[in-house]
Amino acid sequence: MKTKILAITIASVFVLGSQAQFFGADHNWNNGPSVSAAVEVSSLRGLHGLDSLSIAPSRNKFIKDGDWDRSFDDQPPLIPHKSEGMPVNLSENKCLSCHSQENYKEEDASKMSGTHFMTRDDERLKNLSPRRYFCIQCHVPQVDREALIGNTYVNLDE
Ligand code: HEC
Ligand code: HEC
Repeated sequence: MKTKILAITIASVFVLGSQAQFFGADHNWNNGPSVSAAVEVSSLRGLHGLDSLSIAPSRNKFIKDGDWDRSFDDQPPLIPHKSEGMPVNLSENKCLSCHSQENYKEEDASKMSGTHFMTRDDERLKNLSPRRYFCIQCHVPQVDREALIGNTYVNLDE
C-alpha cells in the first residue's frame, strides 16, 4: 500500500514538473489585461455615486385608458391597466386570475395568444407554458415618461 502511494506521489510530481516546463518558468499566471486610464461610467443612476443615498424615483402615473400601439411586430403589448399589487411568484400569479384559459372569458380580459402555450420544442400545452409564467418579464405597464436613455429607434412603417 505504502509503495503504491509513493509511486502515485512520484508520478504526480513528475506530471506537474513537466507542465511547469511546458509553460516555462517565467510564465506569468497573473498576466491580466493591462489597466489603462479609468473610464467614467454613467449608468441609469447617472453619475450619482454608489455610496451616496439613492434618489427617490418620481411616482409613475400609469396610463389606464387605451392601449399604446406596439412599436414592432411581436412586441409584448404593454399592460393597459394598473399592475401594482399583482404578485407573480412561485406560489401565486395574480395575472392568471384574469388572463388564464379558465378565467379570461368571465373576466372579459384579453386572451393570451397561442405562443404562451408552446414549449421550446413547439409542442402545444393545454395550460400556460412555464416559459411564459413570469408575465412582467415581458409585459410592463404604460407610463408617460421620458426615456431613461434616449435612442433613435424608428418603426419600419415610419
Ligand atoms: C382583474 C383582472 C385582471 C388582472 C388581475 C390582470 N389583467 Fe391584464 N387585462 C385585464 C383586462 C380586462 C384587459 C383588457 C384591456 C383593459 O380594458 O384593461 C387586460 C389587458 C391586458 C393586456 C393587453 C393585451 C392586448 O391585447 O393589448 C396585457 C398585456 C395584460 N393585460 C397583462 C397583464 C399582466 C402581465 C397582469 C399581471 C401583472 C395582468 N394583466 C393582470 C384584466 C386583468
Ligand atoms: C417571454 C415573454 C412573454 C411572457 C413571459 C409573457 N408574454 Fe404575453 N406576450 C408576449 C408577446 C411577444 C406577445 C405578442 C405576440 C404574441 O402574441 O406572441 C404577447 C401577447 C400577450 C397578450 C395579447 C394577446 C393578443 O392576442 O394580442 C396577452 C393578453 C398576454 N400576452 C398576457 C400575458 C400574461 C398574462 C403572461 C403571464 C402569465 C404573459 N403574457 C407572459 C410575450 C410574453
